[in-house]
Amino acid sequence: MTILNGKETSNKIKEEIAEEVAEIKARGEKVPHLAAVLVGNDGASLTYVGSKVRSCNRIGFESTLKHLPEETTEEELLTLVNALNQDPEIDGYIVQLPLPKHIDEQKVLMAVDPEKDVDGFHPTNFGKMALDMESFIPATPFGIMELLKRYKVKTEGKHAVVIGRSNIVGRPMSILLSRKGAGANATVTLTHSRTKDIKAITLQADIIVSALGVPGFLKEDMVKDGAVIIDVGITRVPDTSRERGYYITGDVAYDEVSKKASYITPVPGGVGPMTIAMLLQNTLLARKRKLTSGN
Ligand code: GUN
Repeated sequence: MTILNGKETSNKIKEEIAEEVAEIKARGEKVPHLAAVLVGNDGASLTYVGSKVRSCNRIGFESTLKHLPEETTEEELLTLVNALNQDPEIDGYIVQLPLPKHIDEQKVLMAVDPEKDVDGFHPTNFGKMALDMESFIPATPFGIMELLKRYKVKTEGKHAVVIGRSNIVGRPMSILLSRKGAGANATVTLTHSRTKDIKAITLQADIIVSALGVPGFLKEDMVKDGAVIIDVGITRVPDTSRERGYYITGDVAYDEVSKKASYITPVPGGVGPMTIAMLLQNTLLARKRKLTSGN
């Protein structure tokens, strides 16, 4: 069994990006600038956004955090999104999800300039991804594909089962694995909350990507010998014995499933760090595209 070490791999990717940034600086050009918009004070979102901004600083990117209060109106948020679209300093930005309930998420994501949409959530980028055209690919599925590629995990002709159909992970993951080309070419089954007898399906899987958010959901009796296991779950479980009051756990019952797996991602230290690395990669790409288009 091989552990797919996302922390180590993401550090390697960040080093590669940092080298490119150093070259950009040496040429006297503008370095990539990522902005993150956070509305409200959701604990997990604060952690993720903080981590994204810190990573920017470490690799030499410029970064801007726009932290707005919970009661921000949809109109105010749309005004900020428009300002970021117009700001020539900003190469790419993200609006951290989930947004407060009184704001229409889809409306906000639609307002993001697709050229700056480094999350790949705008319909233009999502559609291009599905059509195999160049686009920004959502960071979590992009990170999983990159992890599989760097560990040379074979996907061609394999049966990949994705659990969960979210717009951020499950659905784009199913598209990427089924695309034509090296590192993809899998036969994909997308399962979700209405799927009947999920176990009968996961037992046929060569690769399982679980993006459900239910701790310990995937058990040993649901997995065949030698399967590749990708755990996207990051649930905070309250735990008063820890200083921060919780611990992080995934969708996979790791101790039992790892005994059967050929490859497995740990939580934490698997998919999570890869998401940040690929967001940075997308931001570098956004900068390079602006450069070639003369901006
Ligand atoms: N919330 C959970 N994951 C993500 C992500 O990748 N991007 C954004 N913007 N919000 C998220």
